[in-house]
Amino acid sequence: MKRIAVLTSGGDAPGMNACIRSVVLTALHFGYQVYGFRHGYNGLVDNEIELLTMQQVRHIIQKGGTLLKSARCSKFKTESGIKLAAKHLDAAEIDALIVIGGDGSLRGMMHLSKYWQGQLIGIPGTIDNDLSGSDNTIGFQTATETVIDAIDKLRDTADAFERIFMVEVMGRDAGFIALSSGIASGAEQIIYPEGLKDIHQELDCIIQHVESARKLHGRSSYIIVISENLWPGGAYDLSQVLTEQIGIECRPVILGHIQRGGCPNGFDRILATKLGVFAVEAIKNGHSLMMVGEISNELTLTAISDCVNNKKPVDKKLSDIQAKVFDSVEILSNCT
Ligand code: F6P
Repeated sequence: MKRIAVLTSGGDAPGMNACIRSVVLTALHFGYQVYGFRHGYNGLVDNEIELLTMQQVRHIIQKGGTLLKSARCSKFKTESGIKLAAKHLDAAEIDALIVIGGDGSLRGMMHLSKYWQGQLIGIPGTIDNDLSGSDNTIGFQTATETVIDAIDKLRDTADAFERIFMVEVMGRDAGFIALSSGIASGAEQIIYPEGLKDIHQELDCIIQHVESARKLHGRSSYIIVISENLWPGGAYDLSQVLTEQIGIECRPVILGHIQRGGCPNGFDRILATKLGVFAVEAIKNGHSLMMVGEISNELTLTAISDCVNNKKPVDKKLSDIQAKVFDSVEILSNCT
């Protein structure tokens, strides 16, 4: 009988529980034993292992967070840490390990493969959506909806006070959340890494855009969605710069970890369930060092190295839309 283990690693994402459930139920369906390691790769290094049962995964499909807990693990970046992890996997006679996580977690699998001979299958789970090999990562759609909901609420108060808000969203180095949520909420401006050459150089354009929109519409609300990590000090500092340069108050809102929480939406529950089943099937079929994903509605297997080494582009249709649906866009395109 095969023994499969699963862990969740890195930033948690809505739908991770749905995915754990799917892995456990599918493994049991095939007559495998399934174990969970807690706290991400720390669980491998510290040997925090537990047998997972059907009972434990009942009624978790709708829950945010992760039953197995998650963490980042500095020990796993050391040779001694990885060797210890491999030793614990062997001691527990694990044949295959499934890791649900993002870019860093999948890189961890590549390192582990140098010291451990078992099968390794990755499942893309991150709100950032920054993994090649799947159109969507588990959690991205839910996080985007959370952001849209927050911006809709901000719009009410922004309209009432005719204020400018700068909303900073997560995404690490990628702009998927910013672009999608900005378009869906009708933000006046979206600033995201893939659409930006140098924010310092483009600051003037940003200011002109705000000013031209105000000339066109008079004093009215104006929402800028900006990806994190684009400006030292983030939206707090950049909104201060805008306030000083435009002479109109710009308020920062940092949505932060709210974006990682909450019940997964239907899309993420279904994606997580499909990928969980497919991951166990991939193990059954003898695959290793592959990530399961979904591309154009087809379930796919892609080498983990390709998933982490090829930068995933943002949807060009969305970035083109951004340029077309904005008022006073002329000013911005003249600038860039
Ligand atoms: O990768 C998910 C993510 O939420 C990123 O969007 C963000 O940059 C990072 O994790 C935050 O990590 P932490 O919770 O460790 O501060």
